[in-house]
Amino acid sequence: MWTQMIEAWSSLYSDHAALRTAVEFVHIAGLVAGGGCAITADLATIAVGGDAASRTAAVRLLEGTHRIVLLGLTALFLSGGLLLAADVETYWPSRLFWIKMALVAVLLVNGALIVRTEGQAEAGQPHAVARLHTLAITSLLLWGLTTLVGTALPNLG
Ligand code: HEM
Repeated sequence: MWTQMIEAWSSLYSDHAALRTAVEFVHIAGLVAGGGCAITADLATIAVGGDAASRTAAVRLLEGTHRIVLLGLTALFLSGGLLLAADVETYWPSRLFWIKMALVAVLLVNGALIVRTEGQAEAGQPHAVARLHTLAITSLLLWGLTTLVGTALPNLG
C-alpha cells in the first residue's frame, strides 16, 4: 500500500510544476521563517551585554520566537517528507540525505537545550547566560550547515 501511495505521489509531483513549486516553496518558507527567527534570536543572545536588563530582554526575545521556529520546523518536516517521497530512490540511499537528517536531529536537541537554559538564565542560575551564548553559536552553525547540505541535495543527491 505504501509503495503504491509513494509511486502515485512521485508521478503526480513530477507531472505538475505548480505542485513542485508549492512543496519547495513551503520548504524554503519554513527555513526563512523558522530559521530566520532562530538566527535573529541567536544573534541577540550572542550580542547581549552582561547587565541584567539586557539579559532579560534577550531571554524575552528568545521566548517570543519559539512558536515561529516550531511552525517553521513543522513546515520543513512536512514538505521535506513530501520531497523525500517524491524521489525515494535518490534520497533514501543518499549519504548526504542522512547527514542532513543527523544535522536536523542535533539542531532539534540544541533547540531544546536553549529552551531549558533560558529558564535557568531567567532564574539567575550561574553560568546559564554563558551556556546560552554557546548554544546560540551552535544553533547558528547548525542552521547554516543544514541549509548548505539541503541545497547540495538536489544537485549532489
Ligand atoms: C532545519 C531543517 C531543514 C533545512 C534548513 C532544510 C533546507 C533545505 C534546502 C535549502 C533545500 C534545497 C532546496 C532547493 O534547492 O530546491 C532542501 C532540499 C531538500 N530537503 Fe530540506 N531542509 C530541512 C529539513 C528537511 C527534512 C526534515 C527533510 C526530510 C524529511 C528534508 C528533505 C529535503 C529534500 C528531499 C530536499 C531535496 C529537494 C529537491 O529534490 O529539490 N529537509 N532542504
